[in-house]
Amino acid sequence: MKLWGGRFAASTDKSVDDFNSSIRFDARMYMQDIEGSLAHAEMLGKCGIIPAEDAKLICTTLHEILADIEKGQVQFEIDAEDIHMNIETILISRIGDTGKRLHTGRSRNDQVALDLRMYLKAETAAIKLMLTDLLHTLLDISERHLDTILPGYTHLQRAQPVTLAHHMMAYFQMFRRDIGRLEDCYKRMDVMPLGSGALAGTTYPLDRQFVAEKLGFSAITENSLDGVSDRDFAIELASCISMIMMHLSRFSEEMVLWSSGEFSFVEMDDAFSTGSSIMPQKKNPDVAELVRGKTGRVYGSLMTLLTVMKSLPLAYNKDMQEDKEAIFDAIDTVKMCLPVFTKMLATMKIKKDNMYKAAQGGFTNATDVADYLVKKGIPFRSAHEIIGKMVLYCINNSKAIEELSLEEFKGFSDKIEQDVYIEVSLEKCVSGRNLPGGPSAESVKASIESGREFLKDQ
Ligand code: ARG
Repeated sequence: MKLWGGRFAASTDKSVDDFNSSIRFDARMYMQDIEGSLAHAEMLGKCGIIPAEDAKLICTTLHEILADIEKGQVQFEIDAEDIHMNIETILISRIGDTGKRLHTGRSRNDQVALDLRMYLKAETAAIKLMLTDLLHTLLDISERHLDTILPGYTHLQRAQPVTLAHHMMAYFQMFRRDIGRLEDCYKRMDVMPLGSGALAGTTYPLDRQFVAEKLGFSAITENSLDGVSDRDFAIELASCISMIMMHLSRFSEEMVLWSSGEFSFVEMDDAFSTGSSIMPQKKNPDVAELVRGKTGRVYGSLMTLLTVMKSLPLAYNKDMQEDKEAIFDAIDTVKMCLPVFTKMLATMKIKKDNMYKAAQGGFTNATDVADYLVKKGIPFRSAHEIIGKMVLYCINNSKAIEELSLEEFKGFSDKIEQDVYIEVSLEKCVSGRNLPGGPSAESVKASIESGREFLKDQ
């Protein structure tokens, strides 16, 4: 039996029932739906809109239904369309006419808006927590590798030496910003739409503020049309998640590269790698690759949401039922990626010697030799030219800059003295870059400290 069957002479075609139904994917909001109904029923009783004892019976029965769902004893029906009508149907089947009073002054349009906001609020908090775990891991790795030198890259060409701590703390900044974005997005999610009705509010004297407080919302929506048709909060969350995935995919790409034989900077733990069914020697960084790949599906969800909402006239339209699978999939995906990625990082072996060797090649200290000449009074542009020639000489003679004899050095500039050897050491290149934000151990320590402070408040 359809809760809205009164106006219809014929029943819906079976194919339409299947097509129309969202229970397959919105059943996961059963908890939020029941919590919302509990607050609504209590408010209806308190305001004298329904008899207080009816409100009480509705609430105790809703609690029973919740317990039964959690015990796996409730079978949802496609015929009842969605989670909202499934639960209401069960309620009515248990307490008859009293149950029929629950939907007073409410529409499924504001009900679904409420449930989704509640569901997404909880998930936003859960994702934030996973991000803080990742941030802790990044701080731990950084603390251990303040002096682990590796090449920094631009254009994926060796550029200047940095440290692994500095590199990891770059990702720390990205994920810290992601937490900020989630917090900001949460503020707009945290607004209570019940009382918007189908679209034009209601004539019942509902206490919207009471419901908002009961459900832990900070505010109530200010326009009933917007209250039922706004899905910005879901799009914002999908966008925050997309950004997290973009960061994870950049990180993954580096871990894939770094675990290749060519780089060999890290080795994933056996527990976070897989083999090949044909090539016995293979150890593949599948976790990082999958995270990189799953980024695509999350972007797809964001695009789905934007496109579903595009051009929709006010207020509610059934198109909006399509919001759920997209946002749920984005949430499920990022929640799957974050913990496994964090564990993969925490357990991977770091091959310090290979990192150092790579930093020794590629003339990563060339800028520092130019800076050395600048300190001896040569203008930077001229120094750049001189060192460019020096690098070319080194390439032709298969030498690193620090391997040149003082005589060879002097061939490029008579300003160069014995002290050049200290200046060109990788350690000096790193420690000399000690401005705030730089790779020196001192600078990175300060950034780690600020990171620990940030996490204390999370
Ligand atoms: N299942 C619907 C959705 O997800 C709930 C709201 C339906 N409202 C309606 N008037 N058909 O959007």
